[in-house]
Amino acid sequence: MVKARKFVFASIFDGEPKQSDFELQFEELPTLEDGDVLVETIYWSVDPYMRVQMPKLPVNSTMIGENIARVIESNDPKYPVGSYVWSFFGWRDLTIFNNNMDKKEKGGNHIPPYIVEPIANIPLSQRLASLGMTGLSAYFGLIELCAPKANETIVISGAAGAVGSIVGQIGKILNCRVVGVAGSAEKCRWLKEELNFDAAIDYKNENIEEALQRLAPNGIDVYFDNVGGELSSIVMSQMNEFGRVALCGAISTYNLKSDRTTNIPIQPIIIAKQLKVEGFIVNRWFMRWEEGVAKLSQWILAGQLKYRETISNGFDSLPTAFIGMLRGDNIGKALVKK
Ligand SMILES: NC(=O)c1ccc[n+]([C@@H]2O[C@H](COP(=O)([O-])OP(=O)(O)OC[C@H]3O[C@@H](n4cnc5c(N)ncnc54)[C@H](OP(=O)(O)O)[C@@H]3O)[C@@H](O)[C@H]2O)c1
Repeated sequence: MVKARKFVFASIFDGEPKQSDFELQFEELPTLEDGDVLVETIYWSVDPYMRVQMPKLPVNSTMIGENIARVIESNDPKYPVGSYVWSFFGWRDLTIFNNNMDKKEKGGNHIPPYIVEPIANIPLSQRLASLGMTGLSAYFGLIELCAPKANETIVISGAAGAVGSIVGQIGKILNCRVVGVAGSAEKCRWLKEELNFDAAIDYKNENIEEALQRLAPNGIDVYFDNVGGELSSIVMSQMNEFGRVALCGAISTYNLKSDRTTNIPIQPIIIAKQLKVEGFIVNRWFMRWEEGVAKLSQWILAGQLKYRETISNGFDSLPTAFIGMLRGDNIGKALVKK
């Protein structure tokens, strides 16, 4: 009998998640039946949306999330042993799925896993990062919603994270002036010296208002927002008329115990500057996924797009990696490796 490990959501998050909010459980897996596939997760993605989505599910639900897994036993010829799949199995190590079952859960999953073919010279883990949900959020969110033109100024909050670091580099490929906002001097150094950002602001130690005036002297045309809250109100108050804002995330609000409004009312600024502000969920472009992956991998292979991973080792490190990512411990994409 094979035993799987999984982390469940043991109590409703109250502010910042803590170790006791997660409980390790064991599950005996049945013998494989016709059409069943047994996979072992190799990489887990830890993402901010888990902080928002888990409290909507019942306590004791398996933690949700994307994975790259390897097929280790298979009764389905579409999934040969040794192949890799993208999946949404969440925080579990071994999973049995059966694609022939109509939404019937096996291993707690009902989004059909799909085979990922390795791309030469790009690690498989990037399927959860620059070539996955976060890279595609950067690509489609920036290009489709903000339509940046050469020489325009783009400001990105959460700039040293998985989404933000890709947004800024795409901005540079499009010949824009790129200013990142991130939470440490080391993150700002990385953005400027290694990713070629024109400027970076350490929002924990600098006056953002003054820094933006100095570093975006022609005003801001595009704001790619990963953070929300007061920081975003300050950025938007320095935008040019007809600027475009992509609301990707609002991580500064995710750990708040109750809804709190910002000190700067944002609506009058949006009106006065005639801004176009649009929120998005990346799945909107699901049908164009392959187009985005092709473009992003082409830039990576040409050396125009760099990626960085903050990898924690071992299944047991999932809660720590998740809590750390929310605190800003990661540079680039936060991942857990088997
Ligand atoms: N709309 C979509 O479809 C979609 C898809 C993917 C992600 N997102 C959103 O995009 C944002 C970035 O996601 P990601 O996966 O790339 O995560 P990430 O940026 O790699 O990691 C989260 C980062 O958020 C920053 N942060 C945490 N608390 C903050 C606060 N109070 N104020 C400012 N920054 C804070 C931290 O960096 P610092 O050190 O800089 O503080 C931390 O490293 C999130 O809001 C996420 O929900 C949306």
